[in-house]
Amino acid sequence: SASLNIAVIPGDGIGPELVDAALQVMTEALLSDSIRLDVSTERAGAQTYSETGSALLPGALDRLRAADGIIKGPVGLPDVRKPDGTEGGLLGGLLRNGLDTFANVRPVRLWAGVPSPTVHSARDIDYVIVRENTEGLYLARGSGVRNHHAAADQMMMTRHGVERIVRFAFETARARSGAPADDVRRVTCVDKSNVLRSFAFFRQIFDEVSTEYPDIEATHMYADAAAGALVQNPAQFDVLVMENFLGDILSDLGAATAGGLGMCGSGNIGSDVAYFEPIHGSAPSLAGTDTANPVSQIACGAMMLRRTGHSAAADRIEAAIEQAFLTHDLRLDESGCPIGGTMRAAQTVIDHL
Ligand code: IPM
Ligand code: MN
Repeated sequence: SASLNIAVIPGDGIGPELVDAALQVMTEALLSDSIRLDVSTERAGAQTYSETGSALLPGALDRLRAADGIIKGPVGLPDVRKPDGTEGGLLGGLLRNGLDTFANVRPVRLWAGVPSPTVHSARDIDYVIVRENTEGLYLARGSGVRNHHAAADQMMMTRHGVERIVRFAFETARARSGAPADDVRRVTCVDKSNVLRSFAFFRQIFDEVSTEYPDIEATHMYADAAAGALVQNPAQFDVLVMENFLGDILSDLGAATAGGLGMCGSGNIGSDVAYFEPIHGSAPSLAGTDTANPVSQIACGAMMLRRTGHSAAADRIEAAIEQAFLTHDLRLDESGCPIGGTMRAAQTVIDHL
């Protein structure tokens, strides 16, 4: 039978158990297509950093690029920091910039049956945050200046970088099947162009590129207003495109409205390679306790399968998640953890495949 070669980064904290849960679901979902998962493990993250002085082992990027698909668990440990105090995890220059995965795609969807702290109908929350992933404020990581009296980081936007992320957002809107409440395909540019030059540049390029997509409505919203609207009126959103740091913040906000951080997966997409990881961190205090919500990591598995041409299996996984919540066979406690534990939750999704 055919096999799909995937590289897996288990990561830190709850990462290994989440990845385990997701691999079980993916393996089962691929059975009916007679496809076998061939998994090679790549050690990476904060633990690896503290042991080897580098968060990625030599040759890792080549090994990742050679795989058909890549699944990554969360990384990072609170006591593993670079000498300047920033995170020793992995993401920055190493993976996102190293693989030039310029688009960070973060679907936010409230599954029917999951209580939301903000909105009651599942149809109201179904949008995609397209976060620029290689520049913006995060490009300053490692190069900011700091002394006793002051510190500064520079936010960089390039024409090349903004054009490609805006195009990606419009293409995402064209390809998408979920819809905002009024069924109008739409891309919302989120920025602070009323205050900062870099954001005015981002918006101007958004306006230019939007003329190439007359079939899609182009709208703008200031980031502070968008934070409010994501809570109070999320049904208007379809695809949102924004700078890296804004995307980091607003995607946590979005996930919180959809049942918690443990509900959302994401894709880091480049022109020739993509890897998929939860939007949340490694929750070291939950590591090894079989309590974390694996839905984020399972959703990553579905996204990876769709990307590698196995969209039937991806659809089956998403439908199984939906059914598991709808039937209340899968339920979350008040802290967003699945009742019965991580592996039990994965098995419940498998039961609904
Ligand atoms: C994310 C995470 C990372 C980020 C952290 C772990 C550095 O929060 O993927 O959103 O800030 O990008
Ligand atoms: Mn984040």
